[in-house]
Amino acid sequence: MNLQINSQSYQVNSDGDTPLLWIIRDELGMTGTKYGCGLAQCGACSVLVDGEVVRSCVTPLDSVAGRQITTIEAIEADPVGKRVVAAWIKHQVPQCGYCQSGQVVAATALLKQTPNPSDDEIAAAMINLCRCGTYNAIEAAVKDLSSKEGETL
Ligand code: FES
Ligand code: FES
Repeated sequence: MNLQINSQSYQVNSDGDTPLLWIIRDELGMTGTKYGCGLAQCGACSVLVDGEVVRSCVTPLDSVAGRQITTIEAIEADPVGKRVVAAWIKHQVPQCGYCQSGQVVAATALLKQTPNPSDDEIAAAMINLCRCGTYNAIEAAVKDLSSKEGETL
């Protein structure tokens, strides 16, 4: 089966029900995407598929064949993703960092779809768990980005 990840093609031969996360991390060695719960709860494994956030720990391979997958490794190739990373640095968001790939992916998807999200839209989109409790910094970074649509941080 052919996978399109970060604008590259990969041929993988695993069973179609294999979770995408296993392929990304174990087979292809892109370890920026994390395993947290394995149960679609924490969001550490979030990647973009055709611009939508999916939890790769519960996403079977055969559901993403031929679709455009973006992992944290390529998030800065996207102009919005680049601004999100800059805001994360400016606001010193990460603590241990474990959840942050998924948080950046979620924020990028939100801001691409809704450049100026309301507080409710931010709360609805930024639901990934963070055991270090960086929620306030995440909210501040996303708000900073939403008020600067089109600008470079
Ligand atoms: S590892 Fe996928 S949601 Fe937690
Ligand atoms: S920064 Fe440690 S889990 Fe979120």
